[in-house]
Amino acid sequence: MISGQSRDDNGPFDGGLLALAALPYGGAMFAFSPDPNQPKSELYAELVAAAQALVHDEPDGMANMANLAALIWQFLPQLNWAGFYRTVDGNLVLGPFQGKPACIRIAAGQGVCGAALAHGATQLVPDVHAFPGHIACDAASQSELVVPVWRDGQVIAVIDLDSPEPARFDAEDAAGIEALAQAIAPAI
Ligand code: SME
Repeated sequence: MISGQSRDDNGPFDGGLLALAALPYGGAMFAFSPDPNQPKSELYAELVAAAQALVHDEPDGMANMANLAALIWQFLPQLNWAGFYRTVDGNLVLGPFQGKPACIRIAAGQGVCGAALAHGATQLVPDVHAFPGHIACDAASQSELVVPVWRDGQVIAVIDLDSPEPARFDAEDAAGIEALAQAIAPAI
């Protein structure tokens, strides 16, 4: 069974079944319901499966990133920002996201996202205020997870998740988003 979770802007979950149905024009439609007791490993396995279904046969990377940002936003609780920064000329430029308007350009090495690009490594930040150079796009953010998306030996983008909860993300979240990044890299 594929299940997920939905939420309103403040985070409460409903619960239920995620349904994936093909639309006449080849798209996909999702409906979510949450299982509050679902282990994170299962949640991320389902997120990855849903993401692969969502981008299947769609060649437009920007459209895929837009849908993936919305999918992450639907699946994961306690987020105040979820989306992509794309690598452009060696630095990062804002891509599709959910949440408040954000900084458009981030230099390699700058902030959490720029660190992920410069080091080619996931940044798991339990307290953004303790991260040197953290860029506060939303004052509500307390913790952050940034995962590079690799394709053909290059970091082509990063997935950035912010939370208003301190230490919202752990190693299972990092592994889950890394699996997502690997799965969707060919499609963005
Ligand atoms: N906090 C990020 C900037 C991007 S916003 O969180 C959307 C950083 O320090 O790189």
